[in-house]
Amino acid sequence: MIEQWNELENACKNCHKCGLCETRHHVVFGVGNPQADIMFIGEGPGENEDLQGEPFVGRGGQLLDKMLAAVDLDRNRDIYITNIVKCRPPQNRDPRPEEQEACMNWLRSQVTLIRPKIIVCLGRIAAMKLIKPDMKITKEHGQFFKKGNLIMMATLHPAALLRNPSAKPGAFEDFLKLRKFLDENYLAGTPGNS
Ligand code: URA
Repeated sequence: MIEQWNELENACKNCHKCGLCETRHHVVFGVGNPQADIMFIGEGPGENEDLQGEPFVGRGGQLLDKMLAAVDLDRNRDIYITNIVKCRPPQNRDPRPEEQEACMNWLRSQVTLIRPKIIVCLGRIAAMKLIKPDMKITKEHGQFFKKGNLIMMATLHPAALLRNPSAKPGAFEDFLKLRKFLDENYLAGTPGNS
């Protein structure tokens, strides 16, 4: 797996499949444990991520790390984090449908190699692309969706929580549901089982 993973990462880092390659500083492939049972998927790198080459490293990322820690999850040990698009959309605009589609094969290959048991979508864009196009994130976050052997769930995007702190308790409920799901299914990320 390691060899294939390295090949995939190198190929992705040389990608020129859409116009986002022209303005990027770094391709943000992903971070964490490629053997994890849990994947978190956001929408696309922001400014800090583009400069550092790592997903969720800004204020939103710090909030995400705190919410993870509160349910005993660590980004480097228990999960793998990536995005729908691997290059920053200028001015942090939403990634366009054709940019998302151009990038999807990288994510498909990541999911194939990691074989997660559960995918958590961070925000509306990832939830609409991966769970269902008419996903209403404000109503349907925290619900589990079964797709083949995969369980999927969406939670609110950390940047949305920074803009609207009153949504934090609702989002934290999603993390508690995730914790319960991991414990009930004896998955890695379970204390004493990693
Ligand atoms: N927002 C995202 O969706 N992904 C990142 O990596 C950073 C901010």
